[in-house]
Amino acid sequence: MEQIIRLDVSKSGVAVPAEMQERACRANTLLHTGEGAGNDFLGWVHLPSSITDAELAAIEEQAARLRDRAEAVVCIGIGGSYLGARAVLEALSDPFAALRPRREGPAVLFAGQNLSEEYTAALLDALKERSFAVIVISKSGTTTEPAIAFRLLRAELERRYGKQGAAERIVAITDRARGALKTLATQEGYATFVIPDDVGGRYSVLTPVGLLPLAVAGIDIRALVRGAVELERVTAEDTPFDENPAARYAAVRNLLYAEGKKIEILGSYEPALQYLNEWWKQLYGESEGKEGRGIFPASVTLTADLHSMGQYIQQGERILFETIVSVAEPAHRVEVGSDAENLDGLNFLAGRRISEVNRMAELGVQLAHVDGGVPNLRIEIPRIDARTVGALLYFFEKACGISGYLLGVNPFDQPGVEAYKKNMFALLGKPGYEKESEEIRKRL
Ligand code: PA5
Repeated sequence: MEQIIRLDVSKSGVAVPAEMQERACRANTLLHTGEGAGNDFLGWVHLPSSITDAELAAIEEQAARLRDRAEAVVCIGIGGSYLGARAVLEALSDPFAALRPRREGPAVLFAGQNLSEEYTAALLDALKERSFAVIVISKSGTTTEPAIAFRLLRAELERRYGKQGAAERIVAITDRARGALKTLATQEGYATFVIPDDVGGRYSVLTPVGLLPLAVAGIDIRALVRGAVELERVTAEDTPFDENPAARYAAVRNLLYAEGKKIEILGSYEPALQYLNEWWKQLYGESEGKEGRGIFPASVTLTADLHSMGQYIQQGERILFETIVSVAEPAHRVEVGSDAENLDGLNFLAGRRISEVNRMAELGVQLAHVDGGVPNLRIEIPRIDARTVGALLYFFEKACGISGYLLGVNPFDQPGVEAYKKNMFALLGKPGYEKESEEIRKRL
């Protein structure tokens, strides 16, 4: 079978010593034995291979129901309850769908991932002339951004279709027992899917959190899961270091961090993968950035960002390394044409594919950055499709767990995300925050 993820660290400037190889393999083992930190949240490790046909069928059935009922399906969620679906959707969708005369199935839109009144007003306005349905996703069931968006969209659905009609157009994805969303869903009789207790938000893309919105968008979720299963096998507990790309990636990035490379830039020469960067930033930022430690995850989209961030990467502070997700073969073929006058001087490219130009840009940049002191890691996938994207998701998840353990942190908690919430609730005068409210106002 073709190798789905190829990791090339030959331009990273580091060789992984035996001791680090052993530590990375041990960290991988800990994820399987559940003896490491955060072991209540390891449900994602065997998730791909344990998804049953019945579970996938239930998701597909619900997706078909929503597709039948609505011209637009709004997915409400934030962080891990949003980024995975968005990343896969952007990677696998037609970027010019808006211009196609006929679209297949509903438009999939997102809400609850910000508190912007402008965004909310524009969304409500766009939905005025369209039938719509809602998938509301929140593990805790209490997150402010999605809760506000849901209140608004639920009210609009109830205004249009009445309570019963609205309930038929709402699917809630949340905890099996706790949280305001669960209570609401039970009371109103919404269809529900459960986010397993042992799968944290940023590791939840292969649960209904990601799979239902993607199935609604017409994406082949079975192929996505198959790709993840392949990587689950490739990175299994007993895989030797040299054959385990997740362990190798985790080891190399930790060695670079120890050498002072505190920022990792994830980039790709395919704009379709831009949101994968966003998903990856959350995964690694929330998993590793704690206790005063952690590689700062940044991202670029190339070649566009060579014309903005390229200068800094080449010559700014030498605290960077980069990881490029490279796609071996594009699905389409476009060649540069020949021009009789050649006024733009591009005839030397006539007859050559755009992808060849892109590849030479990638190789040229790689060498320039390495020469400039930016170590380079390269992750190659054969093409962009549901299977390879599923594999990438699991690869990054597994590497993140290993990397967090190598760094010595618990990669499955996020205590730092609570701090701002206390301030925000105090400023908004939420009941129960009276004392904090008084104190914070004095500081403004
Ligand atoms: O990874 C995480 O745990 C977070 O990013 C959460 O997904 C995010 O805060 C949303 O939480 P919830 O799903 O509880 O609304």
